[in-house]
Amino acid sequence: MSTGAGGTFSVEPNPNPCTDAEREAELAHPAFGMAFTDHMSRLTWRAGEGWSGRRVVPYGPIQLDPAAAVLHYAQEVFEGLKAYRHTDGSVWTFRPFANAERFSRSARRMALPELDPRDFVAAVESLVRVDRAWVPGGVDTSLYLRPFMFATEPFVGVRPSRMVEFYVIASPVGSYFAGGVAPVCIWVERETHRAGPGGTGAAKCGGNYAGAMAALETAYAHGCEQVLYLDAVTGTDVEELGGMNIMAVFDDGTVATPPTSGTILEGVTRSAILQLLADRDVAVVERPVSLAEVVEGAKSGHLAELFACGTAAVMTPVGSLRGPDFEVTVADGGPGELTMSVRGELTDIQYGRVPDRHDWLHRLV
Ligand code: COI
Repeated sequence: MSTGAGGTFSVEPNPNPCTDAEREAELAHPAFGMAFTDHMSRLTWRAGEGWSGRRVVPYGPIQLDPAAAVLHYAQEVFEGLKAYRHTDGSVWTFRPFANAERFSRSARRMALPELDPRDFVAAVESLVRVDRAWVPGGVDTSLYLRPFMFATEPFVGVRPSRMVEFYVIASPVGSYFAGGVAPVCIWVERETHRAGPGGTGAAKCGGNYAGAMAALETAYAHGCEQVLYLDAVTGTDVEELGGMNIMAVFDDGTVATPPTSGTILEGVTRSAILQLLADRDVAVVERPVSLAEVVEGAKSGHLAELFACGTAAVMTPVGSLRGPDFEVTVADGGPGELTMSVRGELTDIQYGRVPDRHDWLHRLV
């Protein structure tokens, strides 16, 4: 049972926060996910009791019993969203209830308790209000918010945990990729799969990412930044990049992206881009996209643009695809026109530079 959902979070101020100079140094050149703010939000869940203890506490290590279930069976889910500083100093986030609802779906899949979306959003709001000075103001910078929930019960038998904790931490960030919005090279993974029918592919759970680390190492060894996964049943259709969705733009102006049919993460950025494309009357279709279509299209010129999308990466052009026995460049390898134009429109909305006609923004400060 969840009582007082969306209620006030009490604040325990950090007795040793960063100095202004230390914080300003972090905000001047934020890397992705390296530095964290002075506080974190937390809530606790116990079977039979529900959620309690809405608090913002000093950021710091979490004490866990070595038998805590998450350490053994990876019963964990997380989310990613951002807070953006507008030029008038106000701070906003983007579609937080969409993240909250996906968090609930992920929790259900991992037999974790659902957190009321109002508590999810209140935890984010409370943290950003306390740590508002940490929201950077530079071009393409933001405060990345990472809500997560995990099983803490000390029990090594296999069953859903009766003790769970939820936290939100925050990190000032710039571009996800070190090269900014420069086109990335993608490794086409054929040896391993990220998800299969009936699996956890649609859930944002740590296990999906753990299983993808080995392929990421292979990608790095081949000079690529990310991995493109193929469907586990036929090995012929492109699915997603593990941490991002993918979309293809063809030379006839149409756009295609794989459908979210259980093995692909239902990206919040993905759905916003589909909306922005539809607003432009672009013929955009969610359908299976074969690797052959992408590779042959890159060779023939029928594939005009390919891009990755997600909260962290926003929209990142894919310049080339590489596999054990092939390499293709997408168009001239540079950022595509439609990719950069929609990216511009999306970030203009997020940073308050154009009207928010879909009512996507949610004020935090
Ligand atoms: C995001 O885009 O927020 C992601 O979750 C990608 C990655 C940082 C895990």
